[in-house]
Amino acid sequence: MTRPESIENRWDILYRDYPEVYAAFSSTPYQPTIYEQLPAIVDLRGQVIADIGAGTGESSRSLAQYAMRVIGVEREMAMLQQATASPERGPAEPTGYLAGDALALPLADDSVDIVTGLTLALYPPDRYRAFIREGLRVARGLVVYVGIPPGWYGGELYDVIEGFERVDDVVDRIFIEEFGFSHQDIESVQEYGSVDHIVSTYGFIFGRRVIDHLRKVGKTSIRWRFRVYWRA
Ligand SMILES: C[S@@+](CC[C@H](N)C(=O)[O-])C[C@H]1O[C@@H](n2cnc3c(N)ncnc32)[C@H](O)[C@@H]1O
Repeated sequence: MTRPESIENRWDILYRDYPEVYAAFSSTPYQPTIYEQLPAIVDLRGQVIADIGAGTGESSRSLAQYAMRVIGVEREMAMLQQATASPERGPAEPTGYLAGDALALPLADDSVDIVTGLTLALYPPDRYRAFIREGLRVARGLVVYVGIPPGWYGGELYDVIEGFERVDDVVDRIFIEEFGFSHQDIESVQEYGSVDHIVSTYGFIFGRRVIDHLRKVGKTSIRWRFRVYWRA
């Protein structure tokens, strides 16, 4: 299979066919990381966490630094394989991974302390309702979701990106107005180190127009804003 220059915001194709590109994108260093900022908002210490949409395991491994135990749940087999194939990341390892869907979690009622969805990004957005209901069923304590606030899809280059549906307001409405979640924004800068690296990871995901822009201005970093939503 020849690799295209970009998957033009088709995350389903990214997860299924290019999990190694997702892994290279998500492991490019953030300063400060979501995980460094999250403990100031919600207490993760000593908790049993079900991390939904665990992807290549970046979020589950990071949460495991604070939690007592992390169970990563992921739907896409190719991502799950990457997660289980990255053992040597130091002592903070999640306890394990389960294949499963955020909309019908393979976990019993009140079986964990916290359910997290870290940039789980469900589409279409009405799926968040099922995720929230499932999270509230399974968690004894909090449901925590980290998403992207309106106008920040793809970070600071939102206005350059084309070919995706602008649904961020819907996500906000579901979490805050319908389900009464609290929320707080955090920021982070991701440094790719070179134009080649940013083009082949971030550019590969967010599209041709972005690639042209990155090359033209010689950009190697992206500023992100994330929105943390939480509710007991
Ligand atoms: C942007 S990645 C985030 C991965 C990880 N949480 C992290 O922060 O590194 C989103 C992940 O959610 C998974 N996902 C999407 N919809 C899902 C669903 N309904 N159930 C379970 N996983 C899902 C995708 O396959 C993908 O691996």
